[in-house]
This record gives sequence, C-alpha cells and structure tokens, in this order.
Amino acid sequence: MSIEPPSRPEIENLLVEARTFAPDPAFVAQANAGPELYAEAEADFEEFWARLARERLRWTEPFHTTLEWDLPFAKWFLGGRLNVSENCLDRHVENGLGDKVAYHWIGEPGDRRTLTYADLLREVGKAANALKELGIVAGDRVAIYMPMIPELPIAMLACARLGAAHTVIFGGFSAEALSDRINDAEAKVLITADGGWRRGKAVGLKHHADEALASTPSITAAIVVDRIGGGVHMVEGRDYWWHDIVDRQDPICPPVPVDSEQLLYLLYTSGTTAKPKGIIHTSAGYLLGASFTHEIVFDVKPDDVYWCAADIGWVTGHSYIVYGPLANATTGVMYEGAPDTPDWDRWWQIIEDLKVTILYCAPTAIRSFMKQGEAYPARHDLSSLRVLGSVGEPINPEAWLWYHRNIGHEKAPIVDTWWQTETGAILISPLPGITTTKPGSATFPLPGIVADIVDAAGQTVPRGGGGYLVLKQPWPAMLRGIYGDPDRYVQTYWSRFPGMYFAGDGAKRDSEGYFWLLGRVDDVMNIAGHRISTIEVESALVDHPSVAEAAVVGKTDEISGQAIFAFVILRAGVEPHDTLAVQLREHVAYVIGPIARPKFLMFTPDLPKTRSGKIMRRLLRDIAENRVLGDTTTLADAGVVDVIRDKSGSAEED
Ligand code: PRX
Repeated sequence: MSIEPPSRPEIENLLVEARTFAPDPAFVAQANAGPELYAEAEADFEEFWARLARERLRWTEPFHTTLEWDLPFAKWFLGGRLNVSENCLDRHVENGLGDKVAYHWIGEPGDRRTLTYADLLREVGKAANALKELGIVAGDRVAIYMPMIPELPIAMLACARLGAAHTVIFGGFSAEALSDRINDAEAKVLITADGGWRRGKAVGLKHHADEALASTPSITAAIVVDRIGGGVHMVEGRDYWWHDIVDRQDPICPPVPVDSEQLLYLLYTSGTTAKPKGIIHTSAGYLLGASFTHEIVFDVKPDDVYWCAADIGWVTGHSYIVYGPLANATTGVMYEGAPDTPDWDRWWQIIEDLKVTILYCAPTAIRSFMKQGEAYPARHDLSSLRVLGSVGEPINPEAWLWYHRNIGHEKAPIVDTWWQTETGAILISPLPGITTTKPGSATFPLPGIVADIVDAAGQTVPRGGGGYLVLKQPWPAMLRGIYGDPDRYVQTYWSRFPGMYFAGDGAKRDSEGYFWLLGRVDDVMNIAGHRISTIEVESALVDHPSVAEAAVVGKTDEISGQAIFAFVILRAGVEPHDTLAVQLREHVAYVIGPIARPKFLMFTPDLPKTRSGKIMRRLLRDIAENRVLGDTTTLADAGVVDVIRDKSGSAEED
C-alpha cells in the first residue's frame, strides 16, 4: 500500500460556490421539521428512532429492543410485529381516508386512472388472494417485471400483505438480467405485463419474460397484466391473465403480521464487474426510514399532490413512490411514459393539470430540460409547486439554478437528497424550512445520521478538504446484507475503513461544514498528482451559457499521468465550433483553476447513461483511450457510444 504525504488532500476542493438560499420565513413558519430534531437525535439516537417507530407505525406487537448492533449486522425493533401493507392502506381507510386519492395515474397515450386508498386496499386484497391461490406464503419471493402501471405498486403491496418479499426488476432490463435475478432470489411467481407505452410505441415485455422463464426452475406461475392489448403467447398451466386470476378474488385478505426484520424486498444493484448484488431490506426499520424522511424532507402535508418522477424499478420509486408516501397517506402521481412524449412539456402539462405541489426527479432529467430551453416550462402554470427535489447524481450548480428559476420560480426550496439503494432512505439532505441551501450541496446529514469524510487512513478530513464519505452509526432503513452472501456484504461495505460503512462516494466539506458529493471514487482523476473529481470540472463546463451537459474522464497522459477529456453537450440552438472549444477550456481554467483545464474536448449530441440516468464514465474512458468497450448491458441506448466513438477522432486537443 502506498503511503501518501499527510498534507496532500485525498480529493482536491476546487469549485467554490458562494451563492446561498435561506428558507423563506413563511415556509419556516409552517414546516414539518424543526431544528430540535437534530438535538433530540444527537442526545440519544436509539431513543430518537424508538420514539418515531412507536408514533409513526402501527404495531400488532410492540418491539422490546430498539437495536441489536453486531457490527456490521443490524437488527432494529426486535420483538415487534407489524404488516407493511396494513400500515400503508388499512389504517388510513380506518381513519376515514378511504376516499382520499392514493395515485393519480397517467398512461403515456393519455389514459388516466385514479385510485383512492379504499380502491388500493381492495385491489391489493384481490392480488394477495391470487398470490395465495398460486401458493405464495410468508417468506417466499415474488419477481415483478412491469411498466409503470398501477398494478406494479399493487403487486408489491400484495406481497407485503402476505409477508412475502418482492424483487422488482426494471422493465427496461433484458431477459438475461431478469433470469439472473429470479434465480438468485429463487422467486416462485413472476408478475409481468404484455408490455407498456414508451415514446408513442407499445413496447413488449412478455417475450423477454418468456425467454427468461426458460431458465428459471423456481418459477411455478406467471401473472400477466394486459396493458397494450397485444395478444401475447400464454403458456398453458403457467401463465394467468391478471384480469382472470385477480379480478375474481375476494377483496378481503387479512394482513399477515410479520417480524420487524422480515425480508420486505430485494433490489439488485449492478456491481461494475461481478454479478448483481441483491440488497436486503426488511420491514419495520425500512418503512420507518422511508416514511419519516418523506415527511420531513419534502415537508409533505395532507393536501399535497406529490410526484416522484422516478421508475419504481429503482430504489427511489420503492421508497418515494410506494412505501414512504403511502405510509404517510399522501396523494401521489404516477406517469407511465417518456418526458418528451408527445413533446418536451409533458411533465409541465401534468403538473399544471393535477396542480402538483412537490416534484422529485433526477439531475439528468433537469439537464435534458435545460438543453431544450426555457420555453417549454414557461408555457405552463407551475405556480402550485412548493418543494423541488433532486436525486441520483450530484446536481451541477447551474442545473440547480435553472431548476430553481424555471420550475420553482425562485420560491420553491430545492432539496438535493443523497442516498443509495443500500441506505434505503435519504441520509444527507437539506430540510426545507431549516437549511440554508447552496446550489450543488446536499448540505447536512439528517437527524439520526452520522456521516463523515475521511482520508485513506480513516481519519476525519478537516473542513475545506475532500475524501471518502462514510457512515459511522447504524440507521433503521439500512441494508441488512447482500442476499445469500454475507461475506460480500462485509467485504464491499465494511472492510475499507474498519467500523465504518463506506458508500463508495467521494465528498468534500466546505468551511461551514456543508457536504458536497463528488461522485464515485472510481471516477476520480489523477492529474499531475492532483486528485480531481469529475463533477467539479463538469459543473464548471455546465456553468458556461452554451453548455447543457458535460462528462469528463481521465485519459492516460505521458506527462501528467492522466489528462482531462471532456465530452460536452451544447444547449439547443448552439453550434459547435473550434473557438467555442477554446472558450470552454478557458472557462474551466477561470472557474476552478488551470490544473483542471481539459486537454481534450469533444462536442457530442448525447452521452452513454444507465437506464436510471447515471453517466457511464467507464465507457467514456474506454472511448477516450481507444479501447474495446467494456460491458454495455446496463446502457440505456447502445447506439450512443457508436456515435461518440465515430466522432472521438475529432476531439479538440489543447
Ligand atoms: O454516487 C451516489 C449517487 O448515486 C449513488 C447511489 O445510486 P443508487 O443506489 O442507484 O441510488 C440512487 C437513488 C438513491 C450514490 O452512491 N447519488 C445519489 N444521490 C446523490 C448522488 N450523488 C450526489 N448527490 C446526490 N444527491
């Protein structure tokens, strides 16, 4: 192991953002969360979570022990029993909220469905009885592979009602990804659909499911929703139409009380190389984390119309479309399709029509809207919006400001929320009504969360410096492990820094203690011995008025070890030219310093992204180095890399 000189920062702190946004006093006066929450959690974090668990969840059997911490294995709320679907549905209906809308659903072609809490309870009861008929009992696993239609949350809650676990596989994944996950989870039943609508086209799913089921011995039955009316092939004795097997069931299905630590779901995250990891989330702690953070981070009130525009196939959808909002009896929005169908103002139309008050989405979406220009949101009445959220990647300050001005009309606070599939719920985020925000900073750990930034030796990095983001105390919604592989859990998350959870992200803290996420540490570049994070250079590029989006990577360089290679997407209407390339390089040097001036710069129409919208810098590194491309299976649009590669010979060199 190399010993680094102590004075050298793990990651340079280059980009300084001086703009601050204090909460509006009118917002402060009505906010759900007050500063006392931080003090309460700090005084006794176990008692803090215990109080919240007693107050927020309905228990069939109260817990006797708050936490058993056998590092790195946690158990929360021991002795307690509850049912997650009862917490999300029955108790609200019993409290007189049966007629409250749970979901306003909008299909891409324009069809709509409105489901109240009473409707949802009835549909979940029927779906649970159908699963029972197919032999599903508490402890079994059910795979779900569906488009964004109401039957997807219904299927998840039906599993939870029986104490069975679900594993949702994103509808954009291939047959192979589906069968790998089904086999790892040993799922007994698959719930799928004939297809869904995307960019004006009916996209089939069932043929992928059929291909996958050819090599999944654990599956005994499949339930298929008719979404596109395409007339798919049904396998006799294995496949059942949802409208046949679910619709005829009794709507009453008593919820099965389960142990706090019962498996609620597995969600697979792809490692960079090895097989996907089945992240384990259990019942009580997870539900508490999702519902508590949903209420305080988004300041959710009973009359809000809340829209998380993620896909339920990702953890964001699990925690903030399904479990958090439903546990809080919130009215949510679900949209099936693409943001540009029929045109780039589809989201703004939905917000205007439904008077959406809270919007939660990813920086990648914001940057694509930015690229299309301000005219699209300007055409719509967005005055109902009162809180905006961001998740999934660092948000560049310029994209933050665009969101603030054009969507939030300079009045809606922005919550930049940092978390992971593994963390189950938001861990670092502003609280609107408390936190003064800075564009691009996720600000501070939430009450009950102890995060730190450490150097390679695990020592806290002083303010002003960058290093590795770690978590130093367990939290209720944390992953309980990797399915079937406890050693890999210890190895992946707990071995880099003894006693600490290492998230894999770089971060820095400014002089006021604000956290700034710097991306995955694997993406950090080493330029002449300076460890520079990609996000700071990208943000400096996006700061230029001609740029909509940028991705940078390190390219091997005989002089500096690595040199910065920038891929730049221009805003609509701006033409690429040589002088602009020079200007952009100078702009980076001016904003963050000459060390970060990109040596290579290439204009590109698009970037390779995962299906959840994260830039795949690994493939860009391959392109920059002229290497054979690595694994492209998680790429959203495989054609993009060919386009970039064809152009990469034309990269401007300094
Ligand atoms: O690198 C961080 C980035 O997304 C990773 C987690 O990805 P995933 O498990 O797919 O979950 C995404 C939704 C929670 C993190 O390790 N990330 C997520 N949120 C932010 C972020 N990076 C910077 N700022 C954020 N707000």
